[in-house]
Amino acid sequence: MRKIPALIALTLTTLLAQTQEESLVAQGQAASMQLMQTLGQNLQAQMKAGGPVAALTFCNEKASTLTQEVDEKLGDKISVKRVTIQPRNAANAALPDEAAVLAQWEKASTLPAYTLIPIEGGVKYMQPITINKPVCLKCHGTIESASGVDTFLKNHYPQDKATGYTMDALRGATVVTITH
Ligand code: HEC
Repeated sequence: MRKIPALIALTLTTLLAQTQEESLVAQGQAASMQLMQTLGQNLQAQMKAGGPVAALTFCNEKASTLTQEVDEKLGDKISVKRVTIQPRNAANAALPDEAAVLAQWEKASTLPAYTLIPIEGGVKYMQPITINKPVCLKCHGTIESASGVDTFLKNHYPQDKATGYTMDALRGATVVTITH
């Protein structure tokens, strides 16, 4: 007889944990999507208007500001950023806990939709960013030497680690930090 209430309690706890996880994941997905759409739409517009070098100039000057703007819109309890193990902009270098998840994903045969990292007072939601469009390769693939892109990258990102990718490669992650 005693076992039944314990079982019910366990089921309730599990259900509650599931609901909590679902809500965190929904918030993480929404924030990631907002950031990636904002950056993607701007990139597309710039590529169309002026080609890769215009788009590079735009990303160089505006990617971090646009990221901050999306971050601010999300309020105090949610923040969003992009991280990678191979940064172009050193400000986007993954922190140790984020780098550990990226390294785990690199080894996995299929990428998970997301990974949650528990942190003090909340959680970090990480979602993979892959080289998912041929246009990404213009600036992250094999860059032709002496092309405008090559020269721009050398001048603006002398420490660039973000080239040499192929289609579908893991490029990094969006990290959404959600606190209570
Ligand atoms: C026109 C060139 C260009 C194209 C096309 C481009 N990127 Fe980038 N990407 C950049 C630049 C420049 C930065 C660094 C921005 C900065 O200084 O904050 C960057 C940064 C990033 C970052 C942040 C990490 C880092 O290395 O600093 C990610 C992630 C990323 N790009 C993914 C992509 C993906 C995915 C695509 C295709 C959808 C793409 N990029 C297409 C130029 C480009």
